Amino acid sequence: MKVFKDYYNNEVSLSFEDHPFSKEPKHVWVICRYENKWLLTHHKDRGIEFPGGKVEEGETAQAAAIREVREETGGHCGTIDYIGQYYVSGKAGNIVKNVYYSKVDYLEKQPNYFETNGPVLLDELPKHLETDSTFSFMMKDEVLPTSLTIIEQLPHFK
Ligand code: GTP
Repeated sequence: MKVFKDYYNNEVSLSFEDHPFSKEPKHVWVICRYENKWLLTHHKDRGIEFPGGKVEEGETAQAAAIREVREETGGHCGTIDYIGQYYVSGKAGNIVKNVYYSKVDYLEKQPNYFETNGPVLLDELPKHLETDSTFSFMMKDEVLPTSLTIIEQLPHFK
């Protein structure tokens, strides 16, 4: 378990165990690859980030992850792997979020991309995300680099 502060100075606990904080997390985040690039979305308020969002009533977290990738990028998930889970202790309340890794099979243009401007494809993630104002706060704490060390070791990572 790793404990650190996020961009807003909230405490975050990150673990790669099997659902350590909640069996039914209400939030999901999906680190995506498509054609050997990173697939992200441009959130209208927060900036560029990997897709994700809230689990709906009666939906599994994995189904929410697949749906959010489709809604925010038009991506159809080929594979989806649970990577870990984090707990954010915020001023306005606490959240638990599952992190997934997905290899996206294809992109289908969407009539709208919900709160986002749609897909963003990057060959590389910038080295200094924390000071890059085009990126969302979600990309600026230890969750991303720590999850990437796990993802990059997966046999099907490319
Ligand atoms: P809406 O209900 O859709 O308006 O979203 P919200 O931003 O009000 O609430 P949400 O439940 O999505 O998140 C509540 C708070 O938790 C946010 O304001 C953030 O401070 C924090 N939070 C949500 N997701 C993350 C995340 O991925 N990482 C970090 N560090 N904090 C997060």
